[in-house]
Amino acid sequence: MPPDSPRPENPFIRYVGSFHELVTTPFKDGVNALCWPRVLQGDYEEVSRQLQVREGITTLEEEQLLSLPVSPSGRLAIEQMLADQRLLREHDLDPVLDCVLGGLRDENPGPVPTDVFSFHADSATAEADTYLCTYFGPSSEGLRNDEARRRVDIPETRAALLSLFGGEDDEGFAEHLSDECFDLHYAMLPGAQPYRFGIGNLWRIATVHPGCPVPPCIHRAPETQPGQRRLLLIS
Ligand SMILES: [Fe+2]
Repeated sequence: MPPDSPRPENPFIRYVGSFHELVTTPFKDGVNALCWPRVLQGDYEEVSRQLQVREGITTLEEEQLLSLPVSPSGRLAIEQMLADQRLLREHDLDPVLDCVLGGLRDENPGPVPTDVFSFHADSATAEADTYLCTYFGPSSEGLRNDEARRRVDIPETRAALLSLFGGEDDEGFAEHLSDECFDLHYAMLPGAQPYRFGIGNLWRIATVHPGCPVPPCIHRAPETQPGQRRLLLIS
C-alpha cells in the first residue's frame, strides 16, 4: 500500500471542484468514484483523543462533540465535521460521524469474510450512493474493478461455499450468496494496487443497486492497530 496520496489516479475516479459538482455529477463511462479533494483545517487528532469511546464503532452526536474540552484547533475540526454532516443532510442524506477504535473483524469468516476489512461493494435496494470522508487515522481503501474478482467467482471459494450450502449451484444457491452478502466481496487480482481515499477528501462512490449504470466502487476499511482511532463521516 503506497502512502496516502492526495490524488490517486485511475480511469474509474473523477475529481470534482465543489460539493455541488460532487452531488450532481452522474456516474457514467465506468466512473464509479467521485472525489472532492480537500485539505481541512483543524486538529482532528485532538478530537479523537478527547472522545470517550469503547472498542468498535461509536456514532458521535453533535452535543457530545460540542461539549469536548478542546483547543481552538480542535474546535475548528469539530465545526468542519458538523458542517459536512449538515451539508449532506440538506441533500436528504443521512450521514453519521463515527469514531472507530481498533477493529471489529468477522470472527468466523469461513470461505468469504464479510466484514468491512474485506474489499466489498455496498448495496442498496433503491438508487443510493455511499459518501465517505476520513478525517483522522488510516483512510478507507479502494480497488480498481479491473484489479478485482468477486470471491464467489473463484472456483475453489465457490466450491467451498456450495459444499457448506449443501445443494446445487442453482438459483437457490445464488439467492443464498446474495442473502449472505458473499456476492459483494472481492479478492485482489495478482499485482493489484489498492489506493487510499486520503484524509479530508469527500468521496461519493457507486453501490450495487437496480439500474446502476456503472460497476460498484470496491472499497474496504483500513487495517487498524489495537488502540488506534479513526474519525470518519459515512452516509
Ligand atoms: Fe462499504
